[in-house]
Amino acid sequence: MSKVALITGGATGIGKQIALTLAKEGYDIALNYRTQNEAIEKTKTELENCNIKCFAVQGDVSNFEDCEKIVKETIEQLGQIDVLVNNAGITRDTLLMRMKENDFKDVINVNLTGTFNMTKNVIPYMMKARNGRIINISSVVGVTGNAGQTNYAASKAGIIGFTKSLAKEVGSRNILVNAVAPGFIETKMTEVLKDEVKEEIAKNIPLKRMGTPEDVANVVKFLASEESSYITGQVIHIDGGMVM
Ligand SMILES: NC(=O)c1ccc[n+]([C@@H]2O[C@H](COP(=O)([O-])OP(=O)(O)OC[C@H]3O[C@@H](n4cnc5c(N)ncnc54)[C@H](O)[C@@H]3O)[C@@H](O)[C@H]2O)c1
Repeated sequence: MSKVALITGGATGIGKQIALTLAKEGYDIALNYRTQNEAIEKTKTELENCNIKCFAVQGDVSNFEDCEKIVKETIEQLGQIDVLVNNAGITRDTLLMRMKENDFKDVINVNLTGTFNMTKNVIPYMMKARNGRIINISSVVGVTGNAGQTNYAASKAGIIGFTKSLAKEVGSRNILVNAVAPGFIETKMTEVLKDEVKEEIAKNIPLKRMGTPEDVANVVKFLASEESSYITGQVIHIDGGMVM
């Protein structure tokens, strides 16, 4: 039986590339998305062309009941969950002085509480199977901080604490929990930056370029694989050397 990976926010960007990379490795894919649109249809077609089973499942990760449903339906459709990738994320960037209460709450609710909601619903299945991989998408700014991102940086730093704590709780059940901390990756999230800002950012990265979704997906593939079976509770930086 093929392994099954459940990826949140998988219609676009990094999540989409993780789904495609794992599909090419033969995983069946449960692809969560929040809103029905062209992007999810396109990604689903691309995944189906990889000759694997693909199940697209709607749900908002910030809503606990939605996460219960996402996990239940994935088990019904694909039989098991071997890998959970908590990828769904949003930004509401602004300086703290201007930040509205909901700018803070919304980002925490999707990025951090969403990671809890999904993990809490998946973990009983992994405990029973005595096997599992949970891979959380944090960010370089969860480690370094960033002006204009108190909400986002707090959510991503929270994911790191969550990852390390859970890794300690479930290691004895052969469930490995790791995070990746991408730097500046070319996706919709960074598309909003002006070209000159992007050039300035690239200048300060030791590898002198922004990252690609493939750069992130390849590390996630490794963390999902047998090759990483003695790695847990770690934060792997994928940032061209921004943080050393
Ligand atoms: N792009 C970067 O430079 C960068 C850097 C570090 C970390 N990240 C993280 O990588 C992850 C993917 O981001 P991306 O760059 O691919 O951007 P993206 O906007 O393309 O992807 C985010 C996805 O999450 C989905 N999503 C948002 N809220 C959701 C919700 N409540 N429920 C379900 N899905 C929801 C969106 O629909 C979208 O498909 C995010 O967690 C982001 O914080 C991105």
